[in-house]
Amino acid sequence: MKCSKRKYCHICGETLIKGAIIFLMLQITVIFTYLYLTVNSTKVFKDGNYYKLFQNVPLSNETKIECLGEAKTQSDTAVGFQLKVNRDAALIYGHFRKTKSFLTIGIPTMQRPGISYLEKTLESLIMFTSDQERLEIVIALYMADGNQTWVNYTANDLQKKYQKYFDSGFLHIFHYHEQTFPDFNSLSRTFNDATERVTWRSKQNIDYAYMFMYSQNISEYYIQLEDDIQAIPNYFNKIKSFISTTNKKRVKWFCLDFCSLGFVGKLVRNDELLVLAKFLLMFYNDQPGDNLLGYLKHIKTQFKDIRHKPSLFQHVGVISSLRGKRQFLQKWYIEKEIF
Ligand SMILES: *[C@@H]1O[C@H](CO)[C@@H](O)[C@H](O)[C@H]1NC(C)=O
Ligand SMILES: *[C@@H]1O[C@H](CO)[C@@H](O)[C@H](O)[C@H]1NC(C)=O
Ligand SMILES: *[C@@H]1O[C@H](CO)[C@@H](O)[C@H](O)[C@H]1NC(C)=O
Ligand SMILES: *[C@@H]1O[C@H](CO)[C@@H](O)[C@H](O)[C@H]1NC(C)=O
Repeated sequence: MKCSKRKYCHICGETLIKGAIIFLMLQITVIFTYLYLTVNSTKVFKDGNYYKLFQNVPLSNETKIECLGEAKTQSDTAVGFQLKVNRDAALIYGHFRKTKSFLTIGIPTMQRPGISYLEKTLESLIMFTSDQERLEIVIALYMADGNQTWVNYTANDLQKKYQKYFDSGFLHIFHYHEQTFPDFNSLSRTFNDATERVTWRSKQNIDYAYMFMYSQNISEYYIQLEDDIQAIPNYFNKIKSFISTTNKKRVKWFCLDFCSLGFVGKLVRNDELLVLAKFLLMFYNDQPGDNLLGYLKHIKTQFKDIRHKPSLFQHVGVISSLRGKRQFLQKWYIEKEIF
């Protein structure tokens, strides 16, 4: 008995020592990995331009918005892209209100071959809000197209039609200037996507970042839409009450979801717009925007989607602005009975 017990202790002791050694080795590995990462990330921050990313000047008296510098291209696309937005120069029609509104609705629009859903989109957004509600909303319509003739034509057309909304600050049209974008010929192909598609989604990331930077401080919240959606009646009140109930639950949230399709209907706080813009610019060539948003949501420790049901926005576009990309899957996310 004694003997076996001693043997048992001996084995036990040996295991303990082995365990301790493994534990120590693990600790050492962790320390080295940590040191390695620290040194390298410092290097990235020194070499890269992340921290140089443009900051707008504060909204000094809230009507006149000035911005620094002009757009600058950067040859090394691997470390992200430096974007500068001159809001005064970007604005075509409309004006900045003196006080913050509640919600900015960002809509990018491009020329599509032979068709446009934009007016229907705007009509549904306007039709389903009251005069009173429109004082709390800003629709920021971004002309994401390089064809100046088309931009002029579309902007002038809308100005004639919606003059009172531009006057009240409810509607903005803004665009980008030449030199806003990097050299798309030097992009690397990821996901085995065709070059044309990589260019399209890389530009889209920069377009979105441009919109987020432009929209800073206009409202308390920002929601991203597309130019080929339909809103459902009373959508604004539904958004408002969803934000309010989510806040009451003391849930930590970064992004609320009002449509299950890609980036459409994603809502963030004003304070997060610059972070979101920086994140998209850092990885604009690597992943589509909605993937990047998903990653950032996790980084911001929101691990679950917080989605309003039903979707408040329905996708109607069949012909995409990417040439040849037809969205065969026309998605009807909203319960039919609403219509
Ligand atoms: C937005 O407002 C905050 C707080 O007032 C200010 O620090 C920041 O510079 C403003 N940003 C822009 C782009 O106006
Ligand atoms: C607003 O800003 C502009 C330019 O900075 C300045 O000329 C103007 O006097 C300001 N207005 C008010 C009411 O502070
Ligand atoms: C667009 O409009 C602006 C201002 O009205 C004008 O200066 C410019 O020449 C126009 N461009 C085209 C291509 O029509
Ligand atoms: C620009 O847009 C106009 C108006 O839609 C169109 O007629 C013209 O062909 C376009 N130009 C290019 C280079 O796509």
